[in-house]
Amino acid sequence: MAEQVHEMFDTVLILDFGSQYSHLIVRRIREFGVYCELLPCTQKISELGWKPVGIILAGSPFSVYDHDAPRVDPDVFTLGVPVMGICYGLQEMTNYFGGKVQPCAHREYGPATVKILPAGEADAQSSMLFEELSSESQVWMSHGDQVTELAPGFRCIATTDTAPFAAVRHVEKPLFGVQFHPEVTHSIDGKQIIKNFVVKICKAQQSWTMNNFIEKEVDRIRAMVGPQAQVIGAVSGGVDSSVAAKLMHMAIGDRFHGVLVDNGVMRLNECEQAHKMLVDKMGINLKIADASDRFLANLAGVTDPEKKRKIIGNTFIDVFEDEAKYIDDQCAAAGTPPIEFLLQGTLYPDVIESISFKGPSATIKTHHNVGGLKENMKLKLIEPLRELFKDEVRELGRLLGMDDDLVWRHPFPGPGIAIRILGEVTKDQVRIARHADYIYIEEIKKAGLYRKIAQAYAAVLPVKAVGVKGDKRTYEQMICLRAVETSDFMTADWYPFPYDVLKRISTRICNEVDGVNRVVYDVSSKPPATIELE
Ligand code: XMP
Repeated sequence: MAEQVHEMFDTVLILDFGSQYSHLIVRRIREFGVYCELLPCTQKISELGWKPVGIILAGSPFSVYDHDAPRVDPDVFTLGVPVMGICYGLQEMTNYFGGKVQPCAHREYGPATVKILPAGEADAQSSMLFEELSSESQVWMSHGDQVTELAPGFRCIATTDTAPFAAVRHVEKPLFGVQFHPEVTHSIDGKQIIKNFVVKICKAQQSWTMNNFIEKEVDRIRAMVGPQAQVIGAVSGGVDSSVAAKLMHMAIGDRFHGVLVDNGVMRLNECEQAHKMLVDKMGINLKIADASDRFLANLAGVTDPEKKRKIIGNTFIDVFEDEAKYIDDQCAAAGTPPIEFLLQGTLYPDVIESISFKGPSATIKTHHNVGGLKENMKLKLIEPLRELFKDEVRELGRLLGMDDDLVWRHPFPGPGIAIRILGEVTKDQVRIARHADYIYIEEIKKAGLYRKIAQAYAAVLPVKAVGVKGDKRTYEQMICLRAVETSDFMTADWYPFPYDVLKRISTRICNEVDGVNRVVYDVSSKPPATIELE
């Protein structure tokens, strides 16, 4: 049986009670090299199957006195590991041990100054929580309730002007609580406080590095797949699927069969570049399935954005399944076992989204992302990146020798430039979109702005306008440029390009792309717009 990641690295367990900040605790802890996992507060400790080195009870939109408030599993306190409650976590711990929590006179959102009380001589652990901090520190508050009476056995270790028990600890057991949010960057010493809890109090080893991950994950994949089974996986040419494919190749060599479906709506030269990187440089067993004509034929005459997406998704499934069958037939002819596993490049934010606690009345989604493949394929999933954030995947890509160009590539949607060609997708519209996008991205890179922008692309608008080129009247199409800054892709702002860069891009596109005589820049934020045009 292959080991799980939390069995290979000291792991801190974070229990999510529904706060918008819970995932930030995971980020902060990973940043100093300790592995941690977020699970919903409904997770029974007795059914966990592994022992964390420490537990953090995160925040919540609930009040501990709500009739449907999420409750802490009492086993958290008998596991014999340090526990820290943050905001609601502190209040729920206080409530559980018999203290008092009450609504604040005014809900408190924003900065506060926390005053750390001098630790008594016999109280090494509370000074450990605040080690390397001065006696006052700015923290971030976001709460409507607060502790008004300590639970028996607890004592106060920090206060603010409005919170008499801004931080507490149990006098004998390793139980801690803070009313503020050390996980948000506005809490100046927040990361240090979390680090003190995790490294000094829980004594977690800081062994979570991508170098260690590669070695352990490759062993884990090898054990999971066994000595003979075959694995198939779709590779898009982006960083996630390339990193996942490389790990598979390191683990099982050519028993991993990568399939790159050329849907005819990828960027200019993208298939060639992917081949160069994945096959020539990284040695991955990759088949490029050229299905561009099939995709374009299925898209003919279709202008509705949702229909386009559906057609592309379904055609992808058909092509991928044809390829899987072909590989299976080849395995049968060679007397090797058939394909048993499907590789997926799922990342941790998708997992968090699917498991996070949504309140007692809401069901907790399970992770059913099988890439839209039909269930009758009956393949077992391998998801080597499901514990990783995007920046960790990028670091892996760097360590695995991938070019910076690939590692830092902007995200690209599955339906490709088909959703950036408004109206019908034809060969000529694909040509225009690809060429304009190529120039746009080239100029952004030349200006040194590529890494400052989260996503940029050129779209083709389905309208024509009059122009003049040389002495001739033209009646040609318009290109719409989009560039956004965002950290989570849920909200986004348009990027404020320097005028000279926009001017260069516009001039080049009008001069070099046949059929285009105008360029417009999209100055819409998300919301109300979305990042893609369709
Ligand atoms: P929107 O347009 O919803 O996009 O603001 C947010 C992010 O998601 C990407 N996106 C997709 N990615 N398949 C994908 O793999 C899709 O169908 C798809 N639609 C949007 C988009 O590029 C942006 O990064």
